[in-house]
Amino acid sequence: MELTRRQLGTLFGAALLTPYLPTRPATAATSAATSAALAWKLMWAPEASVDGLNAFETIEDDRADSHPAGQPHIFPEGDNFRFNMHTVDRDSMTDRQRQEVTGNRTPSGYLQWLNGETWRVTYSMFIPSSLKATTTFTHISQTKMPGTGTNPITVTSLRRVNGVQTIEHKIFQSDILVGRTDLEPLQDTWIDAEYEIKIGDGGAGSVRWVLRKGGTTLVDATKTGDTFLGDRVRPKWGIYRSLGDTSGSLQNCYLLLTDVRAYKQVQAVATRLEAENAAISQGVVESNHAGFSGTGFVNTDNVAGCYVQWTYDAATAGPAALTLCYANGTTADRPMDISVNGTIVASGVSFAGTGAWTTWASKNLSATLVTGANTIRVTGTTANGCPNLDYLEVLQ
Ligand code: GCU
Ligand code: CA
Repeated sequence: MELTRRQLGTLFGAALLTPYLPTRPATAATSAATSAALAWKLMWAPEASVDGLNAFETIEDDRADSHPAGQPHIFPEGDNFRFNMHTVDRDSMTDRQRQEVTGNRTPSGYLQWLNGETWRVTYSMFIPSSLKATTTFTHISQTKMPGTGTNPITVTSLRRVNGVQTIEHKIFQSDILVGRTDLEPLQDTWIDAEYEIKIGDGGAGSVRWVLRKGGTTLVDATKTGDTFLGDRVRPKWGIYRSLGDTSGSLQNCYLLLTDVRAYKQVQAVATRLEAENAAISQGVVESNHAGFSGTGFVNTDNVAGCYVQWTYDAATAGPAALTLCYANGTTADRPMDISVNGTIVASGVSFAGTGAWTTWASKNLSATLVTGANTIRVTGTTANGCPNLDYLEVLQ
């Protein structure tokens, strides 16, 4: 059963379908044509069954060649990346064992996590009960500066605390415990990890570590601390453990990962398209109700089928977040159909009364765009026509 791919919950599932995840809605009512909002840009989404170990920058599979019969120790297995560890495996320092992968490789090279940037990784993992917490270190993921001889920056570890098996995350140098929870309830099942690292020296750095099992959040902890040594930061996954364990916990074991994703925090650009510059069917441009952006707004006739249609030129194809600014000074809903490139993507979307014609509100919508010209049309579906329409904003 552990070999079947983890089906992500709707929260993660929705996130994975959207390369940009706005961290706040782009609703700022400035007159600028474009504005920026913080968003998570999907940078890395390998599939084990398709990309195999090309997903990673480097593979540290029995790098001391200690156990040829056990090779490969790291390999794709269906939709999962699998890391096998045998008790006989030895790293080049023979007091420890290591089967790890590093970095995020994409078709255009590997990702560089640089000082001042913020990165987010999400993945699901399966820790079998044979992969136990130990009295000395057992790391299952790390961030490090590339190169030999440097300490980790952060570590996720399986540690015995007063005899109890736990999973914990630490900022390593300053020994800051970010979070810790009992391991045993998380073994032999798929759990979801979410990790954010703001890369910076001293107090400029921080990490957030989240673990979920099903819909339950077990840890969601954020700590400030030094997350930059030099050069860049590189993630690692796998099993890296000391042989010094005194609890008798070292067994042949493995670790599975799937749905590994990396996002970079970016300033996504929102382009504002004024309604007064759009194509209008059965309506006029007016400016008698204050609070609009640009030079006016569109007042459609009170008739079903009236519409406003914008054209947005997309540099890249993919999902976009739309914000429609409107006012409805009546108490009756003014539902509209939303269509993108001739296809209705949302029908009868509610545009309820905003209290006054001078009270402008935002409605968030989404669309999948093609490269080049895209038409986005909103059509009144009742005899009351559309609400007054100020602008459409596209965040891509
Ligand atoms: C009023 C208002 C218009 C609005 C219209 C409507 O006339 O001034 O801006 O469009 O009502 O009900 O649609
Ligand atoms: Ca009207």
